[in-house]
Amino acid sequence: MTSETLQPQQSWDADRYQSQHSFVWQYGAALIDLLNPQPGEHILDLGCGTGQLTNTLAETGATVSGIDANANMINAAQRQYPQLSFAVADACNFQVDYPVDSIFSNAVLHWVKPPERAVQAVARALNPGGKFVAEFGGKGNVQKIVGAVETVRQQGNLSPWYFPSISEYAQLLERHGLEVTFVALIDRPTPLDDGDRGLANWLKMFGSQLLAGLSPNDTETVLRRVEAHLRPQMYDGHQWTADYRRLRVVAVKQTH
Ligand code: BEZ
Repeated sequence: MTSETLQPQQSWDADRYQSQHSFVWQYGAALIDLLNPQPGEHILDLGCGTGQLTNTLAETGATVSGIDANANMINAAQRQYPQLSFAVADACNFQVDYPVDSIFSNAVLHWVKPPERAVQAVARALNPGGKFVAEFGGKGNVQKIVGAVETVRQQGNLSPWYFPSISEYAQLLERHGLEVTFVALIDRPTPLDDGDRGLANWLKMFGSQLLAGLSPNDTETVLRRVEAHLRPQMYDGHQWTADYRRLRVVAVKQTH
């Protein structure tokens, strides 16, 4: 597995990711059903994070390897699952030694820009007839959260993410020789861990680019104002619920 060096703008704390945001891979289990992995199949987990779903895939008898742009995540994955193969690689330009039967990707591709590069890399790495099964943020994902931060900061266009519509992403896949056999945009309100602190924790873990340029004091002020803004719609007195929308897609590499 090879890739160019990547400088991710989002910093990741692998311990905090595992202890407070386990919903990321718990929801990913449904995507494994869609993939329907078979014993002996070669699967690449693209953006494997700390490796929980890579391990679940491997338990089906498939031969699985995981790649992620973040070395902290890969180190944590390799420590927990020493029997599996992990590597640091960039979704935009990874290469495989041999084409794989399937590429699986959960909750990652909204971070990857430009998206064309990731789709090109996926198409290159698949065997003809191979399957690409992915889920990530779709059009409208976390729109209320982003909108509240932009309102409080009185700034627009703060979102660092790629949240495409069904037609936009299907066309992108088709342009690169991947035939879309299933696609859906699914509202999935997502409860956040840690009670009253849930939204602030989510923003610190995943939304650091929405908070970029703020001093520690100003960050806390913005977080309190964003919470005040969203509390009536997103907090039930015990738990915050984020307005997630997933784009779920299955595509098959054309044989000609
Ligand atoms: C998501 O999984 O939809 C997501 C996660 C972090 C930031 C933005 C979106």
